[in-house]
Amino acid sequence: MNILVTGGAGFIGSHVVRRLVKNYPNYTIYNLDALTYAGNLENLTDIDTYPNYKFLKGDIVDSQYINELFQTTNFDGVIHLAAESHVDRSIEDPLAFVRTNIIGTVNLLNAVKDNWKDNFEGKRFYHVSTDEVYGSLGIEGLFTEETSYDPNSPYSASKASSDHFVRSYGETYGLPYVVTNCSNNYGPYHFPEKLIPLFINNIIEKKNLPVYGDGKYTRDWLFVEDHAKAIDLVFHKGNNGETYNIGGFNEWQNIDLVKLLCSVMDKKLNRSQGESEQLITYVKDRPGHDLRYAIDASKINKELGWKPSVTFEEGLEITVDWYLNNSEWLKNVTSGDYKEYYSKMYS
Ligand code: NAD
Ligand code: DAU
Repeated sequence: MNILVTGGAGFIGSHVVRRLVKNYPNYTIYNLDALTYAGNLENLTDIDTYPNYKFLKGDIVDSQYINELFQTTNFDGVIHLAAESHVDRSIEDPLAFVRTNIIGTVNLLNAVKDNWKDNFEGKRFYHVSTDEVYGSLGIEGLFTEETSYDPNSPYSASKASSDHFVRSYGETYGLPYVVTNCSNNYGPYHFPEKLIPLFINNIIEKKNLPVYGDGKYTRDWLFVEDHAKAIDLVFHKGNNGETYNIGGFNEWQNIDLVKLLCSVMDKKLNRSQGESEQLITYVKDRPGHDLRYAIDASKINKELGWKPSVTFEEGLEITVDWYLNNSEWLKNVTSGDYKEYYSKMYS
């Protein structure tokens, strides 16, 4: 079986690629990634010599390249993760998100439609999406698969649009697809622009921890390897034309999470308890900041038997240990050196 994973050099994609390469030696896993600032082949050095792994440097926005790729390789499935993924960047540059998240997704859909059209049997297009498409919850309630789309940021609007395009190709052309909408991930290889890895890095360097607004915004956190496990399960066992919500059953107000992280880091770094909390600085709020996300993951639990395998405290400790033991990775990522090195190697 040939599986195309897009965005496999990013945070979640690298965990998905690693899992598939290791668990399915009879598959060939193609990792297609443009190696933007967020793509890093150092995320995959432990598996890049496996015989069933192939890296392809390419941009999903390049329709000619994508179409030629599908003409020359017979893919049985696509797991699509490539995206611009950071909300703050989407506020600065919405068009970059339209380009990759919408146009890139439609290019992939056209390539599968045109190249699989004679026989969709056994094929599957899997779109990895986000709970942010549902907008914001108040203090109560959970997002279900029936919640109406109501995106508030350019990022979530672009992901909502790509979800709709995937669904429309199912309705219009009969494309076999699945979509999952997942909550906030955390874990190793997370790019240090997102809350948890940014704050780990800043605590190590004794820099300020910029908490947006009053810090009372709530997110539902999931360990990234549990997300990769869910993706594996849905890809193999999910029903075509269905959406599955994935979440951690694990809501935290940002300020409580940051205080917990400070305490774990103080212990690990042999600093006195309370030292890192001094770095907390309340800053201007993110425009359009969604108050609360929380997922009802009962459908994937009941239908496919998935549930998170680690508690937040366990996952956070694994994550903190990983960052402390991989200071070279963190240094390379924050300096940007990796990008120059690897793009030369693969171009
Ligand atoms: P990431 O930013 O870490 O990685 C994105 C990857 O896509 C990078 O390797 C990048 O090089 C690649 N990429 C970007 N533009 C590309 C293009 N035009 N062509 C080819 N490759 C390109 O993102 P992530 O956090 O790993 O998220 C992966 C997917 O999961 C995204 O679709 C995101 O919307 C979704 N998601 C993320 C989270 C989360 O908490 N991080 C939660 C739910 C869903
Ligand atoms: O819910 C899933 C989404 O989670 C994914 O689709 C996105 O790709 C992913 O980036 C993430 O989006 P968030 O905006 O929730 O994640 P972020 O880490 O940027 O922010 C988490 C919360 O922390 C949010 O309420 C904003 C706040 N925050 C973030 C940063 C970077 C701060 O207070 N300070 C910060 O410096």
